[in-house]
Amino acid sequence: MRQLIAGNWKMNLLRAEALGLAAALRHGIADIAAEMLVCPPAITLAAVAQALEGTDIAVGGQDCHQEAKGAHTGDISAPMLRDAGAGWVILGHSERRQDHGETDEMVREKVLAAAIAGLTPIVCVGETEDQRRSGAETEAVGWQLSGSLPRGFGTEVPGVLAYEPLWAIGSGKTPTEAEIAAMHAFIREELLRQFPDAGAAVRILYGGSVKAANAAALLGVPEVGGALVGGASLVAEEFLAIARAGRGG
Ligand code: PGA
Repeated sequence: MRQLIAGNWKMNLLRAEALGLAAALRHGIADIAAEMLVCPPAITLAAVAQALEGTDIAVGGQDCHQEAKGAHTGDISAPMLRDAGAGWVILGHSERRQDHGETDEMVREKVLAAAIAGLTPIVCVGETEDQRRSGAETEAVGWQLSGSLPRGFGTEVPGVLAYEPLWAIGSGKTPTEAEIAAMHAFIREELLRQFPDAGAAVRILYGGSVKAANAAALLGVPEVGGALVGGASLVAEEFLAIARAGRGG
């Protein structure tokens, strides 16, 4: 399977900085075999999409509302993201779950809304540090998987999963390769149980403190279908180096 290297820019980069990063990525992708995606803030998404037009770098949103339109001040819908040039959207990121009280049910509705609008969702799951410490990490991720994925996931609702342990995000800490392998194997089993027809083909990304220095090791773990990269995706050379470590298929 071709690996997907996705950059989550989070709430970073003013327009000129975003365009500068897009231009640097555009110039650096010649020798990259993996699939590439950047997810800028909604306000700069259209400009970044335009700057990357004609390249193999896709553009995605970081969240969308579950409704297509309506009285939801400050929110952004999936058709709006699509209209601005997005092909993808990150959903259920732990920062959305924490900062905005997003529940598994909301994430599931958003996944459907994204699919209807023609966006491919990246659905994020991951355990807290306490859950990991008490040995409840697979149980926690299992609940998120059964709550966040709608019927038809992987078939009528194409999508990607991202395993992001909360304690690894932005911390410089990562699970061991064995821990990542175990969790990805568990997620694969759950996908096959919930979606017997499609579960084998859904890519499972790893996210949390991925950087150029650890990318080759993390991307070499069995069942890792790519990376969701936060901090290191804001620096062109770092992100390009991570992408170069990704497999082409
Ligand atoms: P990080 O973030 O790479 O900065 O740890 C990953 C993410 O939250 O997607």
